[in-house]
Amino acid sequence: MTAKRATAEVIVMSSAEQATDEAAALFKQAICHAVADRRVCNLALAGGTTPHDLYQKLADDVYDCDVPWASVNVFFGDERDVPHDHVDSNYHTAQRALLDHAPIPPEQINPMPADAEDLAAAAAEYEQIIRQILPGEPIPQFDLILLGMGGDGHTASLFPRTDALSESRKLVVSHHVPVLGRNRMTFTYPLINAVRHVMFLITGEDKADAVAVVLGDDKRARKQIPAAQVNPTDGKLTIVLDVAAARKTDLKPAAE
Ligand code: 6PG
Repeated sequence: MTAKRATAEVIVMSSAEQATDEAAALFKQAICHAVADRRVCNLALAGGTTPHDLYQKLADDVYDCDVPWASVNVFFGDERDVPHDHVDSNYHTAQRALLDHAPIPPEQINPMPADAEDLAAAAAEYEQIIRQILPGEPIPQFDLILLGMGGDGHTASLFPRTDALSESRKLVVSHHVPVLGRNRMTFTYPLINAVRHVMFLITGEDKADAVAVVLGDDKRARKQIPAAQVNPTDGKLTIVLDVAAARKTDLKPAAE
């Protein structure tokens, strides 16, 4: 039985900068709501380059807004097989742009160990940390997961034509990604789709084809796009785009 397709809240902004600002506002709102309702916000950050400006924006506002950063537990949706001080590390990007500037207790920040000797054991250990910290049975439930998307439609490190896409038991896996020639560690769909709120921030013309499939109704095409399989069971799906990424849809930017 295929799961019912979640209805996405799609927000198109006139520029990448405005999309970033909108995503930052939604991100802060999600943290405030989670902490108000449950005294904590368990969130996972995205990697790649798109969220860098979002992290910077959150850091710029960190002291002139009422976000309860001290009640936030930070995880990562995926990581590259490099040390955490490497320029390609998703943790490194988030640390430099946000985590070094936000008043989050260090013990509440959980980098993903994607450069461990035994990657399978490291992935299992990261999953156990998630299970220990987050509520939710049988699958721990994040309050917020931020995701990006590659031009090929990959999200987190769920790449087309990889076995990680069909993982139905493990919540975190490490796998070799042939198209990169590298190993990656990543959340799997069971963990992502158990989320309360998942937000994509996608900008740039190079994402337009994949965005059109994600928002379209072509079932065959959607099966080729990992981001299209992000389908929260009971949670909210928000997709924030700039006009360039939305170029191959009939969506127009929000009124300015
Ligand atoms: C990663 C990310 C990945 C990213 C996309 C888009 O580790 O690369 O988690 O899923 O979101 O590759 O990357 P850009 O934002 O750089 O286009």
